[in-house]
Amino acid sequence: MRIDVITIFPDYLAPLELSLIGRARREGLVELVVHDLRVWTHDRHRTVDDSPLGGGAGMVMKPEPWAEAFEAVRTAGREQLGEHAQPLVVFPNPAGTPFVQDTAAQWSQREWIIFACGRYEGIDERVYEHLADQGYELALTSLGDYVLNGGEVAVLAITEAVVRLVPGVVGNAESLVEESHSQGLLEYPLYTRPASWTAPDGALREAPPVLLSGDHARIAAWRRDQAMERTARRRPDLLPDP
Ligand code: ADE
Repeated sequence: MRIDVITIFPDYLAPLELSLIGRARREGLVELVVHDLRVWTHDRHRTVDDSPLGGGAGMVMKPEPWAEAFEAVRTAGREQLGEHAQPLVVFPNPAGTPFVQDTAAQWSQREWIIFACGRYEGIDERVYEHLADQGYELALTSLGDYVLNGGEVAVLAITEAVVRLVPGVVGNAESLVEESHSQGLLEYPLYTRPASWTAPDGALREAPPVLLSGDHARIAAWRRDQAMERTARRRPDLLPDP
C-alpha cells in the first residue's frame, strides 16, 4: 500500500516512523511519503492561505498550491504503482462522514491513499470540484464530533487504524478478529495472571473462574454475554433496535 500525506506541518507525521507502522514501512508493507504543501507555492512568503471571500473570521487555504500538489503527487505515485493507479483522496474534516472500523477495513484494501490536511478554516471549495473533475475519488472524513486544529492528528489516527489491518502488519491476525468494533460490539473484559491478585489496598481480586475452566464453549459464551452487556451499557447506539 502507498500512502501520501500533504500538509504544511510535515513534522506532525513523525510518529508514523515508530512502532508497528514504522516497522511496516521498513518491511516494505507500506510506502508512506509526507509532502510539504509549501513546496508548491511560488512567492517569497510561501503563502498557502488568504482571507475568506465575502468576509468572516479566519483564513482559507488557497487553491493553487493544492492543485499543483495533487498533480505532482499523482505523477510520483503512478511512477511507483503504474499508470493505472487511482488514489483515494481523503480530506480529514469535521464536516465529513464518520470514520469507523468498517471504513478502516475497506481502506486497508486500497492500493493508494492520499491524505490532504486542511488547516485554518478550511480549503477553498473549488479544490474539491477540480479534483472530482480530474477523476480523483474523494472522501471527506471526520474522526468525531469535535474540532481539531487541522487534519494531521486525524491522519495519524486514520493511518494507524488502516495500516494495522493491512495483511502482515499485525503479527497475529487473530487478534484483529475479536477486538472492539470488529464485530459491531465492544470487546469483552480481559484478564491475565495472576488469577488471584492482591491489590495494593489489600483486597483480593479474582479473575472470573470461567476463564480457568478450560471449557472453550463456556468461555466463548461468557465473553459474548460480557461484550453484549458492556456494549448495551456504554454504547447502546451500536446495538440494533430491539
Ligand atoms: N479536522 C478538524 N477537525 C477534524 C475532525 N473532527 N475530524 C477530522 N478532521 C478534522
